[in-house]
Parts: sequence; structure tokens; C-alpha cells
Amino acid sequence: MAGQIEMAMKGIVLAGGTGSRLFPLTKITNKHLLPIYDKPMIYYPIQTLVDAGIDDILIVTGGRNAGDFLRLLANGKEFGNIHLDYTYQEGEGGIAEALGLAHHFGAGHRLCVILGDNIIKGSIRTAVEEFRHQPAGAKILLKEVPDAERFGVAEIEGGRILGIEEKPKQPKSNLAVTGIYLYDETVFDKVQKLKRSDRGELEITDVNNAYIAEGTMSFAHLDGWWTDAGTFDSLLRANNLVATTRENAA
Ligand code: G1P
Repeated sequence: MAGQIEMAMKGIVLAGGTGSRLFPLTKITNKHLLPIYDKPMIYYPIQTLVDAGIDDILIVTGGRNAGDFLRLLANGKEFGNIHLDYTYQEGEGGIAEALGLAHHFGAGHRLCVILGDNIIKGSIRTAVEEFRHQPAGAKILLKEVPDAERFGVAEIEGGRILGIEEKPKQPKSNLAVTGIYLYDETVFDKVQKLKRSDRGELEITDVNNAYIAEGTMSFAHLDGWWTDAGTFDSLLRANNLVATTRENAA
């Protein structure tokens, strides 16, 4: 519309937490600095954002090794002409709490939020473009998995998303909610209204369910492989998937 400037979408990489499921690997470093084949883990989610055309990126980290991110990534010049910001999460308040800390950076913008241990083969560019044209709300990316009980699980009926359950004992589908989330500027209001879960955290699944309740959540299926890397098995799988993909491309 004439006279209206579209606010650019910003990216947020959530890279805090204690990585307790990877002890003792994470005793002296942050999970997101561990190697995935030939690069530190955090390189992959940053590259995913950059490949989708998002170049204004906030890293939310925490713990005793937060300074290492600055030493590793500096101003982000390895990724091209991007701008990196950093913020610090104290303690273990959960993914949605970490997102809430990004308010100063993200207020008034659409956001692409990615968990620092989520690694994908393909691109999220199409989903990001679709979301740019979505009038309001949020969009999540789903992936069929054999072990849905490890993730947030989406219930889909007639092409609509009915709800998400966090790590259900009996998943209603095999569709994991990947850690790649597209949010409009109302996300910070939703985070503010959250109550802590039984494990004492602000859950990203509760944020997503708030959008679903509002009727403004869309979803897409992610092409290509997807993995997290927060357990010994998934860390090994991530390494193998990246190595094999690299070999096949060579
Ligand atoms: C988190 C989210 C979960 C999501 C997963 C994706 O789980 O809570 O909904 O499916 O990331 O990686 P976590 O790995 O922190 O247990």
C-alpha cells in the first residue's frame, strides 16, 4: 500500500539451556557449540535463516559459556552481510521464556524463531514467503517422525490444526512440530500470559496453542530431513545426516 513500509522479518536463534541430556558433553560448553560434522551446531540454524532471506538475527544464549558465541560468531561475517545481536537468558526458564527476552529486538516485527539444535536439509524459504502473505497469526512446520512422543505433536483434521500436545505418551499423530516457528508481532503478548508448566518452564507449545485457539495458526510440511540434536542419539544422527548429505553433494 502506498506510504506503508513493510517491516522486515527478523530471525531469532534460541541457544540457551543447560543441555543436561548431553552431560558430560555439555558440562564445559554449551550444547549449541558442539560439532555437527564440520561446523559448530549453531551454524546450521543461522544458515537456515540466512538461506530464507532473513539477515537480522538475535542469538539468545545463556550459561557459563555465553561469551564463546561472540568469539565464534563475532559479527556474523562468515554468513555474508548479516547483522547479529546477542542476549542472555539466566537459568532454565524454557523456550518461550527465552523468546520473551527477545522483546526489545522483535517488538513490532514478524519473526522466524528457530531452536539452535534444529538442523534441516532443505529450505524454509517457501514457508517464510507464505507467512509474509498471511494476514496475521503464526505458522509452524511439521515433519513425520517415528518417535513423535519426543516432541510437540500436532493433531490435524480436515486440513486444520486442532491442537498440539507436548511430548504426549500416546501421540495423536506422527507429525512432530519442528523447532521452526513463524510469528506475528502479537507473540510477545502471548508469552506474557503464559503460566509455568509442571516442569517449571514457559512452553513454546502453549504459545502455539494460543494461536490455534485464536484460529490464526497455519502449518506446512517440511521437505527433506529434519533432526534435533539434544540427545546422544539425535546428536549422532545429526552428524551422520549432515556428513552423508555433504558426501552425496560432492
Ligand atoms: C522442543 C519443543 C517441542 C519441539 C522440539 C523440536 O522440545 O518443546 O515442542 O517439538 O523442541 O526440536 P525440546 O527438544 O526442548 O525438549
